[in-house]
Amino acid sequence: MSGGAHQNGKPSADRGRLAGVRCLLAVTGSIAAYKAVLVLRALQEEGAVVRVAMTEAATRFVTPLTFASLTGVPVITDTAPPAEGEIPHVAGGREAEVVIVCPATANTLAKLAHGVADNTVCALLLAAPARLLIAPAMNPRMWDHPATRRNVAILEGDGHHLVPPERGAMACGEVGEGRLAEPARIVDAVVEHLGDRPLAGRRLLVSAGATREHLDAVRFLSNPSTGRMGFAIAEAGRALGAEVTLVHGPTEVAVPAGVEAIPVVSAEEMLAALRSHLADCDLLVMAAAVGDLRFPAPLPGKCPKGELPAALTVEATPDLLATLAAERRPGQLFVGFAAESGDIEAHALAKLRRKGMDLVVANDITAPGIGFASPDNAATLLDGDGGRWELPRTDKRTLARQILLHAARLLA
Ligand SMILES: Cc1cc2nc3c(=O)[nH]c(=O)nc-3n(C[C@H](O)[C@H](O)[C@H](O)COP(=O)(O)O)c2cc1C
Repeated sequence: MSGGAHQNGKPSADRGRLAGVRCLLAVTGSIAAYKAVLVLRALQEEGAVVRVAMTEAATRFVTPLTFASLTGVPVITDTAPPAEGEIPHVAGGREAEVVIVCPATANTLAKLAHGVADNTVCALLLAAPARLLIAPAMNPRMWDHPATRRNVAILEGDGHHLVPPERGAMACGEVGEGRLAEPARIVDAVVEHLGDRPLAGRRLLVSAGATREHLDAVRFLSNPSTGRMGFAIAEAGRALGAEVTLVHGPTEVAVPAGVEAIPVVSAEEMLAALRSHLADCDLLVMAAAVGDLRFPAPLPGKCPKGELPAALTVEATPDLLATLAAERRPGQLFVGFAAESGDIEAHALAKLRRKGMDLVVANDITAPGIGFASPDNAATLLDGDGGRWELPRTDKRTLARQILLHAARLLA
């Protein structure tokens, strides 16, 4: 393999339009399969990290070795499928954010439209969490055939995006519509498909949920935070293009796709996990409800009821933000949440100054229907320089996006 071909070592790609975006490129058995090599290279030049899957028919046009050499990772085929139940990770144990079917044959279009999963590629495509980007290539009469037209309409109706084939001379000698779109157009379509990504190339570190401070194996001090707000921040961060690490306390909320999750229990553990990821991050969002108190000497196992201490001694947990602020490097942006009552904004601003945050998301915990354990939230975003932005009641996802768009503007 030539030294410069390996995608993960590409020097110029970290600021491309697809910097760090994980793509799965599914190649099917069209004469245009060789053009998928050019598409792969164009994606890599934009900074994408690509894994390739090929149908059996595709391997008759281009060898898996070509793609494996260019990506540095094995190609997924019927004879080398991912292990049963395994998600084919693209890089660093992470799933693909964009799945591109290029070229897509009439046969594969038909299968996808009807949910047929009789080969590894179709099974992967059926299981893909993201909407597909499909670039068909076929003889013009196949493309114009009513069956293909129907299949395309079904796929578009399902929310998948098509990069329509172009008009021109075909390999078979016919002239018409059916030629695979140019690689540059396919790459532009991938960029468009991903949408607005102001956090592309940025690393976001999020803390979420409640911490627990155990008295013994079954008794603990905690609070009602479910982690929903922090998980929504992580999910929104991913959608806006960030590499996300989510350090979270015990919760029932599912980890968003493509997010690296680090489960912890106590404030001490949360601090250790955050510290070990702090140096790498551009943006820290502290959405966790970290407990203030802990038991200095937790009891081993489950203490029998009759042997429980009559009085409990507690001590303060470490101050996470103050510790992290002391280790902060220039250029990092710190955003915190302040769940307050009374003069909410004054308390939140005092917290911002005390803890060295750049932005604080002030929540009124006494307002009905928002905050802890609710799907909705409302907040006021404050900086230390008199900036004040009202974020009216909405679902936590939308609110998370608004907060991050604001943070992205400050980072830029
Ligand atoms: C030389 C040759 C070129 C082909 N080119 C195309 C093509 O461009 N588009 C297409 O839809 N089918 C094309 N086919 C037919 C497919 O290879 C065939 O339908 C195959 O079953 C597709 O399998 P797959 O969708 O699993 O990759 C071609 C077949 C041959 C022999």
